[in-house]
Amino acid sequence: MKEIRFGIIGCGLMGREFASAAARWLHLSGMRARPRIVAVCDTAPALMDWFTANLGPMQTSTDYRDLLANPDVEAIYCAVPHVLHAALYPAILAAGKHLLGEKPFGMDAAQNAAIMAAIAARPDLLVRCSSEMPFYPGAQKVIGFARSGAIGPILEVEACFLHSSDINPDKPINWKRMANVNGDYGCMGDLGMHVLHVPLRLGWRPSRVSASLVKRVTSRPDGKGGTLPCDTWDNATITAHVPHPLGDFPMVLKTWRIAPGEANTWSLRILGMTGSASFSTKSPRQWQFMTYTPGGSQTWQTEDLGYTPLFPAITGGIFEFGFTDAIQQMWAAFVDELAGGDARGFPCATPQEAADHHAVLTAALTAGTQNRTADVICRGMP
Ligand SMILES: NC(=O)c1ccc[n+]([C@@H]2O[C@H](COP(=O)([O-])OP(=O)(O)OC[C@H]3O[C@@H](n4cnc5c(N)ncnc54)[C@H](O)[C@@H]3O)[C@@H](O)[C@H]2O)c1
Repeated sequence: MKEIRFGIIGCGLMGREFASAAARWLHLSGMRARPRIVAVCDTAPALMDWFTANLGPMQTSTDYRDLLANPDVEAIYCAVPHVLHAALYPAILAAGKHLLGEKPFGMDAAQNAAIMAAIAARPDLLVRCSSEMPFYPGAQKVIGFARSGAIGPILEVEACFLHSSDINPDKPINWKRMANVNGDYGCMGDLGMHVLHVPLRLGWRPSRVSASLVKRVTSRPDGKGGTLPCDTWDNATITAHVPHPLGDFPMVLKTWRIAPGEANTWSLRILGMTGSASFSTKSPRQWQFMTYTPGGSQTWQTEDLGYTPLFPAITGGIFEFGFTDAIQQMWAAFVDELAGGDARGFPCATPQEAADHHAVLTAALTAGTQNRTADVICRGMP
């Protein structure tokens, strides 16, 4: 099997997830290629020890430019704080490396535009944005249902990503709660790509939005006995107007860091005149759907899907699918494209989708802070 040599920049939470997915590549069946991690970089040297302890000797460096200078590295996974995306992603592309970059692809629209210009300058490279939740089988079912035309005129779409750990005011602050590192979008920059990936993939581009932004925890322990300002938005509820040939419809997007009781709930619900469908990671093996004909019964059905991923795997179909599987499926899609495949019809989020999500978040920030409706200005590739 073809091997694609990867470097990882950022060995934190997400860097480790990729290493784990790559290490159990034998889980997948019939792949065109497999990733091999040959280099890692983090400014915290101790974090790289986990990689070498588990994967064996490889290039390690606290300076990402060392990885970019390594001719053995063909592709990079970059999972660093948002403030660094606009510096690192263009440098990665200028060095001729393919890129799976973490969302949000720059911490604001201007930084995203710089990244988009760098992507346009290297059409020979594959660039994708991380977003793994749509790879759950239930999410794929909802997507397939929508693509089949079963929904008819749409009444409403709701997409949510809900976390709850920030409800604890004693949780120490990290960079994700600091606007100068995470960005002014706050929770929307953290979670916006997750909720917008599928709507944008299905061609549902908002034209205008209003937004309710919530700030509840204004300072947090710094982990050293003091406190620091916590200046990012905790929760955002965006109500978008989506133009559509069958009738414009509202789309509600919730990106909440403080959703009581929710650990990591991603959900998507589409309501239509002839068909409706929904999936939530709260019930990861099930999806719900309803088809309707005039005068007929209105009956929601629930189907247990078991382990039925986009990319076939060794796990029996009766078993369950989880977060680490979704991560691996996303990586399978990226590696498949790198090896010349079509990602089985569902590629990872594209740079254009990342740019379009910035357009929505920028408008939502304007709408929420100025208490008005704001137009969404989408830009194509430069
Ligand atoms: N797809 C998802 O589900 C998901 C989940 C969480 C985070 N993310 C995204 O992943 C990215 C990283 O988030 P995380 O949760 O892994 O954060 P993290 O803080 O756990 O890891 C980031 C790492 O980057 C390192 N770093 C900082 N500056 C660096 C530099 N100049 N060079 C090399 N390394 C540097 C840090 O030391 C840290 O280890 C963000 O863009 C975030 O939005 C995605």
